[in-house]
Amino acid sequence: MLFTIQVNNKKIKAEKGETILSALNRNGVIIPTLCRMKDFTPTGACRMCVVEVEGRERLVTACSQPVEEWMKIKTHSPRVIQARKTIVELLLSNHPDDCLYCDRNLNCELQRLSEELNIRERRIRGRKIKPRLDQSSPAIVRELSKCILCGRCVRVCEEVITATSLDFINKGRATHVGAAMDRDFNFSSCIHCGQCVLVCPTGALHEKHNITEVQEYLNKPEIIKVIQYSPIVTAWIADELGMKYTREFDRILNSVLRRIGFDKVFTTGIGTDLCITEIAGQLSARMEQKSETPLYISVCPAWVKYAEQFIPSLIPQLSSVKSPQQITGVLVKTLVADQMGVKPEQIFSVSATPCMAMKFEARRDGMMRKGISDVDSVLTVRELARLIRLYGIDITNVENEPADEPLSGRSSAAVLAEVSGGMAEGVLRLLYFSKLRKEADKQYFKKMRSTGSFREATIELGDTEVKVAIVDGLTGLEKLRSALASGKKFDLVEVMTCPGGCVHGAGLSFNVSRDDIKSRAKLIYQIDDTEAINLPCKSPALLNLYDNLLKANPEIADKKIFFTHFEKRNVLL
Ligand code: SF4
Ligand code: SF4
Ligand code: FES
Repeated sequence: MLFTIQVNNKKIKAEKGETILSALNRNGVIIPTLCRMKDFTPTGACRMCVVEVEGRERLVTACSQPVEEWMKIKTHSPRVIQARKTIVELLLSNHPDDCLYCDRNLNCELQRLSEELNIRERRIRGRKIKPRLDQSSPAIVRELSKCILCGRCVRVCEEVITATSLDFINKGRATHVGAAMDRDFNFSSCIHCGQCVLVCPTGALHEKHNITEVQEYLNKPEIIKVIQYSPIVTAWIADELGMKYTREFDRILNSVLRRIGFDKVFTTGIGTDLCITEIAGQLSARMEQKSETPLYISVCPAWVKYAEQFIPSLIPQLSSVKSPQQITGVLVKTLVADQMGVKPEQIFSVSATPCMAMKFEARRDGMMRKGISDVDSVLTVRELARLIRLYGIDITNVENEPADEPLSGRSSAAVLAEVSGGMAEGVLRLLYFSKLRKEADKQYFKKMRSTGSFREATIELGDTEVKVAIVDGLTGLEKLRSALASGKKFDLVEVMTCPGGCVHGAGLSFNVSRDDIKSRAKLIYQIDDTEAINLPCKSPALLNLYDNLLKANPEIADKKIFFTHFEKRNVLL
């Protein structure tokens, strides 16, 4: 039901049940917020969104207060502006003054609010919070002195990721956000998804940077510098650099990376195609053996860690095929090293990805051989964009170049794997083709592409039925559990930690909205629709790999190197 309220002496329409903030935003009135996150229940913790309501003695928080018919609201009265200003001044009073060196410099919500509220001097002097830097995690750095206690990270970790690795610790002035028992992050149940980093408004949480390490190696002439980038990183880099993505960009990035100093530029897509093919083989074998339990796709490293910590009984069902990043890493340190006539230790292998948990994955025990990592350094898209800026490359003035052989080609199924359900779709497309000798219409997999944290579909492959479940974000696990408890059987389960899949990876731009994620997924489906090679088994690069290159190299001929194992992990909580 719509009714009229007065805002800043103007009448606007409001809807029964909505918050003041929602009514204001719908009518083009912008007020600042800090602790609020769209689609989450408001907590009213920061009071940044206060407004004046006639007849109410105290200012009210617009993000949590429902709108009422009689309301006359002032959103920018002197009292309101002063209150917001004081809140920010108080936050700044004990905040470190190191914006210039901060990870979020020029991209910090506290900095932006301070600018918007025209704060030009330090009126309130508080005792600075003692710096406490936690660099123990392989993926995430915590700088507690920059935390403004908005609670966004705590909520995301609990409500979206369900890992509940963070909480408020202590009370009063001693309150801070930390992991269980206030221990360092490496002792916690954190699965390194980085979703807390994406929502943190300040530099209190950020990815562990590998840029300096990469730069060091770029300056070593005796080392061969190799980079792989996941298929659609090109689009996200364009986004980060403020450019409009066109397909041309896929080839421009190759020359940009060579200008930076990489000797070889590969796409992770070939690893994804190999991964899809091997998983399809595992699924087919399980179905032939009439396995009672589903095969769980294990390409999301955060999900794998979650399973190892919280559902160890599932470990035998996790596919042992390594992730696309690690498969490509293996190919770099074996096949490419061999072709170049160098030892694996002479290669520095970098991966550029939208995922933060892959920094952790590259360090896993099973991802090293004889003390040599298959992937030495992982850069998020944000870091790669920084590296490009650092090297002063004018991206509008760079030629098109192909990626390097033999790891340059891929099918569109490799791109599709970046959205939730895409990896499973690639596996089923491949099985459909191998059984029926024709390509399935993409509409066939429509049910797997719909929205929601849990989706199920039955895909017919001739006379065989494959029952598949897609867990799109870890909140969907609860629904999977209920479905299994009610007696439902699945053959294949895909689990992605970040809702939406890698298109919502924590290594991509900050301040991402649900609509951004949808449009990223749309772009991927468009690419899949417009490209001619939709199946890994039709990609000449993968065919060459299976038919010639693997067979010719004794180290990888039996393909054992593409598989790994998982183990139960003990965590504090
Ligand atoms: S990285 Fe993910 S699991 Fe770890 S604390 Fe952040 S949200 Fe929680
Ligand atoms: S670490 Fe960041 S998101 Fe978490 S409470 Fe502090 S400021 Fe907010
Ligand atoms: S944004 Fe409304 S109280 Fe924080």
